[in-house]
Amino acid sequence: MTTAAPLTVLGLETSCDETAAAVVRLWPDDRVDVLSSVVASQIAAHAPYGGVVPEIAARAHVEVIGAMAAQALEAARIGYGDLTGVAATAGPGLVGGVMVGLSFGKAVALARGLPLAAVNHLEGHAVSARLAADLPYPFLLLLVSGGHCQLLEVAGVGAHKRLGTTIDDAAGEAFDKIAKALGLPYPGGPALEKLAQGGDADRYPLPRALLGRAGCDFSFSGLKTAAARLADTVSTPSERRDLAAAVQAAIARQLAERAERAMDAYAARRAGQALRFVVAGGVAANRAVRARLEHSAQARGFSFTAPPLAYCTDNAAMIALAGAERLAQGLIDPLDAPARPRWPLDQAAALAAPTHVAGRKGAKA
Ligand code: KG4
Ligand code: ZN
Repeated sequence: MTTAAPLTVLGLETSCDETAAAVVRLWPDDRVDVLSSVVASQIAAHAPYGGVVPEIAARAHVEVIGAMAAQALEAARIGYGDLTGVAATAGPGLVGGVMVGLSFGKAVALARGLPLAAVNHLEGHAVSARLAADLPYPFLLLLVSGGHCQLLEVAGVGAHKRLGTTIDDAAGEAFDKIAKALGLPYPGGPALEKLAQGGDADRYPLPRALLGRAGCDFSFSGLKTAAARLADTVSTPSERRDLAAAVQAAIARQLAERAERAMDAYAARRAGQALRFVVAGGVAANRAVRARLEHSAQARGFSFTAPPLAYCTDNAAMIALAGAERLAQGLIDPLDAPARPRWPLDQAAALAAPTHVAGRKGAKA
């Protein structure tokens, strides 16, 4: 940390279906205060289509971004003149939405003479556990959201090494698609978790992808296909509940099994040093997933940290903090910083083993 005074940063998040704004204060000793964090969800606008419609999302962001920023400042009891920086998500995500928040952030930076941080949304998720817990670097991170499923070594600001990623769907995508096959409303993850309550996870056997396979990559397409087929055969409430419980357990189990491999490799390289495991992203809101990972981490001598539920799903506090950490290191982005629909955190790993090939559906970074 190189600054003497605290940084007070406005964060803006518009990469998917939430328009979010927040004010975060980062102190020179690494303390973090979330002064405000507000989220306008577009769920109702997309629900009739069963998923996010990019053009509807972009328009909805345009309509509320100014009001959300004003609301975040008001809730923080400060004005634009009290800010020392602006952070906006610059990708990865739906480019129309990203451009709304990024352009708004650039305008604030220009008008107020503030430094801009064009933040990688994934870096926001990566720091999200630091919003509410005393969590120093380095740590091992499982990032599980609607678009991503990755194991990363996070050494510090902007220093990410990817240990594993999904070779097909992201975990959140699997939750969403299987939930849809069960006739549950969008977004499927929370709805499936609710349906699974009290269910018998052992009633329906589901495939265990990559079991025993070396490395820490993930695969959910086999599970998705098997679960969708079973979804056509279940009808009674108890059958549906048991299938939902089986799906949730299968996803949690794969996440834990692959994370355990990453933990073992990470621990072997860091003998005698503190071992920290963090799970973040929308799927980290799932209680079964959290519990399974906490168990795996503790059994291996790792501390376990997951953000509070409100910081698991998309929010702007994590973007403000990621931006503040970058600004504190003197990393200021130019006002022509581009919106980047695809933007892997570990560029080298993504180039060496691309998971997205033109014409093929796959992970977005
Ligand atoms: O991080 P996020 O809000 O947005 C992305 O960056 O993708 O993650 C959204 C994903 C969706 O797939 C959603 O279904 C999933 O997180 N999700 C959950 C739960 N809450 C959100 N999945 C399972 N259980 C939950 N409770
Ligand atoms: Zn996200």
